Amino acid sequence: MPSAKSLVEYEELTTGSRAFDMRSLPIARKGYDSCIAHMPKPERLFDVGKHGISRYLSVLPVGEILISLGEGETPLIQSKVFSNLLIKNEGMNPTGSFKDRESALTLAYAQEQGWKELAIASSGNAALSGALYARLYGIHMTCYIPKNTSKGKLQMIELFGGRSHEVGQDYEESYHYLLDNLPTGSINITSGAFSLRSEGAKTIAYEIWEDMGSVPDAVICCAGNGSALASIYHGFAELKEWGFTDKVPAMICVQIKGADPINQAWKRDEWIRVLDDIPASECEAIVAKESFCCAKAVHALRESGGFGISVTDDQVISGLQHAVEREGILPEFSSASVFAAFLENTERIAKLGEKIVIINTGNGLKEIDLLSKFLNSSGL
Ligand SMILES: Cc1ncc(COP(=O)(O)O)c(C=O)c1O
Repeated sequence: MPSAKSLVEYEELTTGSRAFDMRSLPIARKGYDSCIAHMPKPERLFDVGKHGISRYLSVLPVGEILISLGEGETPLIQSKVFSNLLIKNEGMNPTGSFKDRESALTLAYAQEQGWKELAIASSGNAALSGALYARLYGIHMTCYIPKNTSKGKLQMIELFGGRSHEVGQDYEESYHYLLDNLPTGSINITSGAFSLRSEGAKTIAYEIWEDMGSVPDAVICCAGNGSALASIYHGFAELKEWGFTDKVPAMICVQIKGADPINQAWKRDEWIRVLDDIPASECEAIVAKESFCCAKAVHALRESGGFGISVTDDQVISGLQHAVEREGILPEFSSASVFAAFLENTERIAKLGEKIVIINTGNGLKEIDLLSKFLNSSGL
């Protein structure tokens, strides 16, 4: 086991010294000295008079979320097939992914700080979501996306008013390009380099806890950077720290076999792993050589007693078919990986307890051409 480090050190290990240093920002007014430090215990966790992530304003690092598009409050649905399974459907967010929680918070923060120019590297969802919120705040957003980003997402970035630059063959190239070439005066709000985003995504944990009245035994989430997974863990860890629950769920990290730096690092007792050659995959939102929140995600697996599951694209196709044909949910192809992981490991996962939640991170409508290749159009 590597020596224990503070979470701030993990973060530096992961994102490198050029990442935006959140600790330099004046966000201490809520007892908040680092975006990954836990907030002090709130008097009440949620405000019943508010909606979306604003319900949790007392534990978010902004004074107000001026512009909400209805992000959050996504349904937690009972599986039609497995009695121990619930599905948190993040595809129901305004632009179809959990990224809207992060964007709502990040753009509210940007507005408070008076930032006018933002830049983001993204495989698509974070950019298109950020572009929409930025437009409404009158903030410019430049999006650096890899050449293989699906057409639907690219079109949405442009329709929402983002300036897009296709840079590099994969997400990692776009990410490094932006670190090296951040335009003067711009703030880099990329996941992994701007961890305030996590504070938006952590609200997924609060909602699950509110809906269930307790925490589940395990949460299964797919990971590219590992930010969503680490943020959800962070939300549960805060609930535990504040005494709302006495345990955190085992976090299960789903990645693509061979393109799974977090799962490989976890297995080898390392914090970070960077891969050279990875297999091609249609899971554009999670396929990874380098996960820029690797150490935080590994920390979440270790602390929660969870583990990694790596799946192939063929298994993801079966997961997709299950999701659509038996659960009535249309996930993004990458998001269908969690259904694949569950189907491939039902017995192992059942041993963790009777209440399992899988996170459907994104909506398949943006990729309908791709999905239709794998779905049976025949009826019953
Ligand atoms: C739909 C979807 N699912 C999962 C992920 C992976 O999230 P993270 O990079 O936080 O691990 C992304 C990232 O873009 C995404 O768009």
